[in-house]
Amino acid sequence: MSGTGPATVEAWVRDWLHASDLRERLDPPAPPRSWETAPIASDFRPTRPDGLEVVERTKRSVRPSLLKSVEGRCRVLHTFCHHELQAAELFGWAILRFADAEAEFRAGLLGLLLDELRHARLYAAELERNGSRFGAFPVRDWFWQRVPQCRTPLSFVAFVGLGLEAGNLEHAARFASAFREAGDESGARVQEQVAVEEEAHVRFAAHWFRRWSGGLEFDEWSAQLPEPITPLLMRGKPLAHAARLRAGFDRDFLEALESWTCPPSGS
Ligand SMILES: [Fe+2]
Ligand SMILES: [Fe+2]
Repeated sequence: MSGTGPATVEAWVRDWLHASDLRERLDPPAPPRSWETAPIASDFRPTRPDGLEVVERTKRSVRPSLLKSVEGRCRVLHTFCHHELQAAELFGWAILRFADAEAEFRAGLLGLLLDELRHARLYAAELERNGSRFGAFPVRDWFWQRVPQCRTPLSFVAFVGLGLEAGNLEHAARFASAFREAGDESGARVQEQVAVEEEAHVRFAAHWFRRWSGGLEFDEWSAQLPEPITPLLMRGKPLAHAARLRAGFDRDFLEALESWTCPPSGS
């Protein structure tokens, strides 16, 4: 992104998604204020910046026990940093993909994109504090393999906001305690800050889901998840009841989510 810079948000998103510099991907210049007057929907995918290796599978999934060693802590922080980066990129993707959606919704996506980048930079700073850096470990683009299957804004908010980000309310609470137990107060505070801000992201998704479908029913929500995603992947245990209620779910929904089990195969 050089010279005079992109004139519209859409052009800014496209430039940013193809920025080859890792620092610029995490910390781009501020977006312009103008939007295209007649945007055309496109399925625009990012390239991976220099210095970020993508692999099909990473070693093992992250878990709190890894926080006991500095190396393990860095692996956890690196994974979370890449989650945030992918989330930011996917909000950019949605701005371009759902060009026909309400302007207010698309403007909201831009706000979320900028929040996610800020979260990614918080984790990048924690990595540096621990003597590492973003790019030091290979990454897996799991969100990118799944989320673009969403064909409508309704399905997008169901999967990302009411699924992944809502599930993160549980994971962030669990990891905040784990960072604290490992003696890393700074890491714990980042988890707590991200968790608080993610509540607003889930609330955004709940607002638009209700607006487009007339309510927020569990069955309606789970029907919007792209295959093979099931509600099982979209919750942590125990559920973060208070945070989820503040974010816009009601008790019936949470009860259904908590008690959901995979249907027997063949049914
Ligand atoms: Fe985030
Ligand atoms: Fe978020």
